[in-house]
Amino acid sequence: MQFRNTQGGYGSVAIAFHWTMAVLIAGLFVAGKYMTGLDPMAPDTFALYQWHKSFGFLVLALAVVRLAWRFANPSPRLPDGMPTVERIAAHLGHAGLYALLLALPLSGWLMVSASPWGIPTVLFDVLPVPHLPVPGALGGKAEAEALLKELHEILGFALLALVVLHVAAALKHHFINRDTVLRRMVSTSPASAAKNRTS
Ligand code: HEM
Ligand code: HEM
Repeated sequence: MQFRNTQGGYGSVAIAFHWTMAVLIAGLFVAGKYMTGLDPMAPDTFALYQWHKSFGFLVLALAVVRLAWRFANPSPRLPDGMPTVERIAAHLGHAGLYALLLALPLSGWLMVSASPWGIPTVLFDVLPVPHLPVPGALGGKAEAEALLKELHEILGFALLALVVLHVAAALKHHFINRDTVLRRMVSTSPASAAKNRTS
């Protein structure tokens, strides 16, 4: 089993991070949109908010560990002959995705910390998480909460937009350029093949 990335592709750890987080984020996005349309006083609404917060924190934790793993591994090389503009777009796109994987849950954490209701966050009903100090520059608690809600929503849409572009790029590589870019995020074979070539 090829755990680590090589110059030719992703190892199983990076692939597992990628798809686990993609599923979690899709779920969080749908749940976030759905729960904000519910009656805030209904008991199920409260439970759904707590699940959203718990899985949101899970994404934050996974993003930190995933970034550490990324820096401890080689990054697979982009295909030879890929135009410079596309190379820059790929690097900026990935950096933007990582930035949002951190910023979106952090904005959620700040939002619940600013709430005048002071509702505690207990991850999966087990692990209590402290509230963050909310910068005074954001105004009183209610104002800060409203601003941070707005920010959380905007960052959510930014992530959605970037993921749409990201998926379009992955499909272009697979169906138009016919290279290994999509295959190497699904299987470790390209990573193993490159390793065997160099050893
Ligand atoms: C990557 C992780 C996350 C994603 C993709 C995500 C996504 C979303 C989305 C799409 C909404 C609906 C926004 C709207 O239309 O108003 C939402 C709402 C919300 N999120 Fe998140 N979220 C994440 C993490 C978190 C975290 C870590 C927390 C708190 C600790 C959190 C707390 C909330 C709350 C309280 C709302 C409801 C806001 C309101 O009542 O208007 N989220 N989230
Ligand atoms: C919420 C959804 C998603 C997020 C947040 C996300 C995020 C990322 C990130 C951060 C990377 C860079 C990995 C690295 O080199 O460290 C990446 C790579 C990649 N993603 Fe996604 N992704 C998502 C969904 C998808 C989907 C649905 C597809 C396929 C249709 C896809 C295909 C790929 C491919 C092929 C790569 C490898 C690019 C390369 O080899 O340079 N991603 N993704």
